[in-house]
Amino acid sequence: MILDIKNVSKNFGGIKALKNINFSVKKGSIHALIGPNGAGKTTLMNIISGIEKMDSGDIYFKGFSIKDKPPYKRAEMGLARTFQNLELFGNLTVLENVIVGMYLKNQRGFLSSGIMLRGINREIVDKSLSILEYIKLSHRQKEIAKNLPVGEQRLLEVGRALATEPELILLDEPAAGLNMRETKNLSQLIQKIRDEKGITILIVEHDMELVMGISDLITVLNFGEVIAEGEPLMIQKNPHVISAYLGED
Ligand SMILES: Nc1ncnc2c1ncn2[C@@H]1O[C@H](COP(=O)(O)OP(=O)(O)OP(=O)(O)O)[C@@H](O)[C@H]1O
Ligand SMILES: [Mg+2]
Repeated sequence: MILDIKNVSKNFGGIKALKNINFSVKKGSIHALIGPNGAGKTTLMNIISGIEKMDSGDIYFKGFSIKDKPPYKRAEMGLARTFQNLELFGNLTVLENVIVGMYLKNQRGFLSSGIMLRGINREIVDKSLSILEYIKLSHRQKEIAKNLPVGEQRLLEVGRALATEPELILLDEPAAGLNMRETKNLSQLIQKIRDEKGITILIVEHDMELVMGISDLITVLNFGEVIAEGEPLMIQKNPHVISAYLGED
């Protein structure tokens, strides 16, 4: 197991966002975390990446507790993520966003130190260009990130995550706002990342066709609790899962 979530709970005031969550992600798998709106999926992603603190419980990444590690330490260990609300550096170019991703892993303080993208060595630029090629965004390298259509911004978020050379990528609704063709491309990219690079994927996603098509295992959250876990076909037939989704508007 590359990730173990152990008894994780989180309250926001009176809201029990996560109640004693337990599950594990197998190394090399594509694992989906699904559930109706407000189920607690993003909260859990935030806790795993370290930008939100849990009230109780623990999380093990590659067998080590990461509970007390700040986000950059988790990134250094090989944990990367994308955001439901895109969080690119909007005013930087597409290429610069990937370059920054590469620096974020090893050279903390690069941005705050005010060093801009001068004097960056050729190797880093070349590596970043090859990532853009991998995500099929090379033709956009000089564009300002915020000017890209949402579909390409989501791809760029994946590219920036790849730039940190992660072992596990957390994807929070990577298909939100994508059309059918873009979703198909994304689905192929995610599988390629797993198959070719061996990177484990934990994906939160509402697009059921995407989830059912690529996931090895699915964990279902509802009102902050795990209500089911299994392979796609089993999850689709699970009465608890069906009623959780039917309970939604
Ligand atoms: N910072 C916060 N302060 C207060 N309440 C919060 C905060 N973040 C999340 N919540 C609440 O916690 C619960 C879980 O929210 P979360 O965003 O994790 O759900 P989600 O499963 O990601 O939903 P969606 O599918 O809509 O993205 C919700 O009731 C939400 O309103
Ligand atoms: Mg969410």
